[in-house]
Amino acid sequence: MNLRAYAVLTLSSLAAAAGAQYSLGAATSGSWGSSAPYDAGLFTPFQDLNALSLTEYTTLLHPHFPAHSVRVKQSRFCDGEVQAYSGYIDVGARHLFFAFFESRRDPDQDDVIFWTNGGPGGSSMLGLYNELGPCRVTGPNTTERFEYAWNNHANVFFVDQPIGVGFSYADYGEKISTNAEAGQDIAAFFVIFFEHFTKFKGRPFHMAGESFGGRYIPVFASAVYDRNADLVYAGLTPINLTSVMIGNGDTNSVATMMSYYDVQCGSYGFPKVTSISDCVRMKQFVPRCQKRLKESCVDVLDHIDCLDAWEFCQNSLTEDIFTRRNPYDALRPCLDKPDFESCYPIVGDTTTYLNNRSVQEALGIDPNHGNYTWANWEVNVRLNEDDRWFRAEHHLEALLQRGVKALIYVGDKDWICNWVRFVGNERMTLELEWSGQDAFRSQPLRDWSVDGVVAGRTRSVGSLTFATIRDAGHMAPYDQPVRTLEVVNRWLAGQEL
Ligand SMILES: *[C@@H]1O[C@H](CO)[C@@H](O)[C@H](O)[C@H]1NC(C)=O
Ligand SMILES: *[C@@H]1O[C@H](CO)[C@@H](O)[C@H](O)[C@H]1NC(C)=O
Ligand SMILES: *[C@@H]1O[C@H](CO)[C@@H](O)[C@H](O)[C@H]1NC(C)=O
Ligand SMILES: *[C@@H]1O[C@H](CO)[C@@H](O)[C@H](O)[C@H]1NC(C)=O
Repeated sequence: MNLRAYAVLTLSSLAAAAGAQYSLGAATSGSWGSSAPYDAGLFTPFQDLNALSLTEYTTLLHPHFPAHSVRVKQSRFCDGEVQAYSGYIDVGARHLFFAFFESRRDPDQDDVIFWTNGGPGGSSMLGLYNELGPCRVTGPNTTERFEYAWNNHANVFFVDQPIGVGFSYADYGEKISTNAEAGQDIAAFFVIFFEHFTKFKGRPFHMAGESFGGRYIPVFASAVYDRNADLVYAGLTPINLTSVMIGNGDTNSVATMMSYYDVQCGSYGFPKVTSISDCVRMKQFVPRCQKRLKESCVDVLDHIDCLDAWEFCQNSLTEDIFTRRNPYDALRPCLDKPDFESCYPIVGDTTTYLNNRSVQEALGIDPNHGNYTWANWEVNVRLNEDDRWFRAEHHLEALLQRGVKALIYVGDKDWICNWVRFVGNERMTLELEWSGQDAFRSQPLRDWSVDGVVAGRTRSVGSLTFATIRDAGHMAPYDQPVRTLEVVNRWLAGQEL
């Protein structure tokens, strides 16, 4: 089985044309480096989101980020109820697409959420149109308003990243190679956006993602945090990084792999679908797999040996869940073979919808880059090989130690990035080394409820909350929108589950 079959998928330039408006600080070239003190007198914020054009992009620049600019326009799409915007984060020849919806409640007061899907290589348009955006695709040409959208109580940004994913593109086929670089681009984007639309300055900011997003988000949030020191030094307003929110994350990929025997053959509430003989065979592979992953992926990172060990483990431990059933949801059957599109036919409709030229025109997609696919397999293979091995949980620990909160929520019917105690995401949270670790570990899981009905289990101490979402699979907001939104809204409000 190759990496692709196993992939954890959750899974232009209208502007440059004549007539685009520019809002420049006077100094767009010269000696502005990250350490140069910032002179507010040289910069004019754009200020009024309503003044953005519906048809042309406005380009936003900022002297502190000479390598980055933002193209943005108003867009009428999705439910049409709140103000919506779309555009690109431009970094030289690289262009990351974003969509932004204001809060349905109070855009001037509510928190800001950044969202990315995982994959790697999965488009965040899946999050927007199938999971938590203000509308949902209902067929190849149709959407409808979605009641349980995350912008009910927050301003929400969806970003297609890295380059090559969804509507993001590069002029000459450039590729971004690491999470860290993408993190720098995302950090720069929000500073530029908030400096221009100053009502967002200092607003509580949350970085959220799913699946492989469990590896993106800790790195991106660290980039935002580290960038803040530099902003303060330059006299700019730091981003008020308040929390990270990770859904069905693959934060520690080795731990995820080692959990597969337990979810299939242990007593964690998953259906007993794997035969006794397969379980016995797998059990013999567990210690060998553990040893090989530890030796070549954890203790030292030898890419060749590590990939070899990974393939060995995959072949010996995952065959049943990944080739015979829906690996993303123990409750949801697939149409045909257990690949993402057969398990989630809405993904095909979403792809058709997003390839409709009139839809793309509303979004401001350049016809030259209008071919939309929900997954970029080249990015998938590249990041699976290169970016799967660093310990993203160490970033989480560092964020917790600096007062950034973390919400780890997990749909409890997901096999692929499961919640399971001692092995899956619960173990990841228990093993995080931070000042609250002992208190966190000593607390038992307890039920949490929505309207008197148990909606999952949770444990929370200080800045760290772990929660399962009952009867949700890998895409918890898709499967259990009410429960997932309840977790999110209580989290934003600083309430216990
Ligand atoms: C959707 O658009 C396609 C063309 O791509 C058309 O063939 C089809 O009839 C449309 N379906 C509906 C329900 O409008
Ligand atoms: C950041 O947001 C928190 C609420 O999460 C608020 O209490 C605090 O004052 C904000 N900080 C700044 C510097 O605006
Ligand atoms: C695009 O979508 C519109 C409805 O929004 C529909 O009328 C039209 O048939 C679609 N076009 C194609 C080529 O699918
Ligand atoms: C978009 O897809 C069409 C047909 O599928 C293909 O002919 C065209 O080359 C593609 N364009 C790009 C920019 O990939």
